[in-house]
Amino acid sequence: MQVPLLDLVAQYRTIEEDVQGRVKAVVDRQGFIMGPEVAELEREVARLSHAVHGVACASGTDALLLALKALDLKPGDEVVTPSFTFFATAGAVHNAGGTPVFAEIDPVTFNLDPAAAEAAITPRTRAIVVVHLYGQMAPMEGFAELARRRGVVVIEDAAQAIGARRRIGDAWRMAGEIGTTGCYSFFPTKNLGAWGDGGMMVAQDDAVAARLRSLRLHGGTREYYHDEVGTNSRLDTLQAAVLLAKLPRLAGWNARRRELAARYDEAFAGHGAIQAPRTDPANEHTWHQYTIRAERRDALSEHLKARGIGHKVYYPLGLHLQPCFAHLGYRPGALPVTEAATAAVVSLPIYPELTLEQQDAVTAAVLDFYR
Ligand SMILES: Cc1ncc(COP(=O)(O)O)c(C=O)c1O
Repeated sequence: MQVPLLDLVAQYRTIEEDVQGRVKAVVDRQGFIMGPEVAELEREVARLSHAVHGVACASGTDALLLALKALDLKPGDEVVTPSFTFFATAGAVHNAGGTPVFAEIDPVTFNLDPAAAEAAITPRTRAIVVVHLYGQMAPMEGFAELARRRGVVVIEDAAQAIGARRRIGDAWRMAGEIGTTGCYSFFPTKNLGAWGDGGMMVAQDDAVAARLRSLRLHGGTREYYHDEVGTNSRLDTLQAAVLLAKLPRLAGWNARRRELAARYDEAFAGHGAIQAPRTDPANEHTWHQYTIRAERRDALSEHLKARGIGHKVYYPLGLHLQPCFAHLGYRPGALPVTEAATAAVVSLPIYPELTLEQQDAVTAAVLDFYR
């Protein structure tokens, strides 16, 4: 049995009517730019994130870029980020005029470690970008405390973690809630995916949100009057319509991902060559990816490919070792936990429409390899 890594056609079959209805309303109106769906989506995503403001934009990359541009970084200003993340996390720091400083992750959750982030802080540090990798939150209480104590801003890269939450004290806190700005991606493969690129920033502070809105639209609040140089990073109304049709299903989809993760966990429990992913007990995971550490990972990958089992390595090379950041001077061995992760991880199919038979085929193929 062939199993894709993700099956958006299967998802589309379950939502076709709703999404077509929403899209048709936009098409009938021919109102493609900043239609009411954009504002509605901003309200809904802000609500989901326990945030006051939502500011939609053109991609998750732009969400990070605008959140960082709002800090007015000067040349030499540093932003601490993990190296074990998608490129955009650090690319946005560079493009906002800052210098990325890469810090080590927790080997259990793959998320940035607050102690390692603190050790990377220098007098030039302005911010930390915390990534909620694979769909579970990093320990935001630790980063919030660090931000207060060291006077730095915390931005959340929640591109992979919409709807994720963490028990802090006696309350559930959402991905995107605690940082100065929380950044989402609606890339089609995300847990909440558009029909193209899309993103959103959420914030609690009125002034921060106003600045993000201004930067999103050429740096002005009045048409043809510009207080600063911003850009055009709107979310298409059509994309907002698609996302509004999908949003009511997100909680159910994420719950289904948790069921599938629990089945994988059971199948891989106690296996010497496979380390199943672990959830921090304070977290409710959204399983954007189900990522194992596997012995002989590259050979396993070849085996899965031959069996028609979708899988992918997120990410095969830490950002500190990317050619574009060679000028920063990191050498192999600089971040051993990150480098061990890049050599061992592989993600398996975990989309909500995955059938149990398909999942069993994935599990069998993995276990067969080690037999
Ligand atoms: C962790 C992380 N940050 C940022 C992004 C960038 O989002 P986008 O592809 O929407 O620009 C992504 C997704 O691609 C991501 O996974």
